[in-house]
Amino acid sequence: MGKQNMVYSRLARRLRATGLDNFHDYLNYLERGSPEEWEEFTNALTTNLTAFFREQHHFPILEKHIEKRKNQNKIQLWCSASSTGEEPYSMAIAMVQAFKTFTPPVHILATDLDTNVLAKAQMGIYSLDRLEKIPKEKLKQFFLKGKGQNAGSARVRPELRNMITFRQLNLLDDSWPIRGPFDAIFCRNVMIYFDKPTQYGILKKFVPLLASDGLLFAGHSESFQHAGDLFKLREKTVYELANKVR
Ligand SMILES: C[S@@+](CC[C@H](N)C(=O)[O-])C[C@H]1O[C@@H](n2cnc3c(N)ncnc32)[C@H](O)[C@@H]1O
Repeated sequence: MGKQNMVYSRLARRLRATGLDNFHDYLNYLERGSPEEWEEFTNALTTNLTAFFREQHHFPILEKHIEKRKNQNKIQLWCSASSTGEEPYSMAIAMVQAFKTFTPPVHILATDLDTNVLAKAQMGIYSLDRLEKIPKEKLKQFFLKGKGQNAGSARVRPELRNMITFRQLNLLDDSWPIRGPFDAIFCRNVMIYFDKPTQYGILKKFVPLLASDGLLFAGHSESFQHAGDLFKLREKTVYELANKVR
């Protein structure tokens, strides 16, 4: 579907939901200022496709990277476009594996623009077909299968949930109310929606938030080579700071 058609069909849903019959009236309604509708508007426009252990090769790299920092008091990770939670929970599972305990000294900040996906992420309940690619043993270790009314779905173990804080954050905002340093930042499959100058602005704001030897993980079709003064490629879609001495 072309971008224009995609935006059309997503906003048409909002028109139906608000009972308005044309885009002009909908625009007026937004401009008159309904904070709830602004939220629905942005939620409708976001694309939330994600999966557990998507771009699988990143997770052993993350594990190894954190294993080297095991004597640190606290490890901090940021998942900056967390969608419905599959990505930050995959990061949490990798951390349990790295530390060989369900209570590793790790905190994961998971943020997204879309409040609907954040609410779903916070619940941590997934239909079993979303978990098909996870090996049976891992599934048993990290998920609690629903019974009776909840058959057909599974909930992430509470220990994983406890490692993560979910918060709304717009990567396009001028300033972000968060503090680093993060040992790793995941920014995967969201930069594709922004032009290069916008991406550069976001990458520039990542720099002071990343630990000097921290890693930045990008999506499979994203490249930050255009910001070579800020980040350099370490291995496939994994970046490190270009200038480590700050
Ligand atoms: C395609 S999903 C990618 C999810 C996950 N990172 C992955 O790779 O599987 C893109 C996510 O980016 C979020 N997003 C879009 N624009 C954003 C923005 N300006 N700030 C923060 N998140 C945004 C969307 O709400 C959506 O959840």
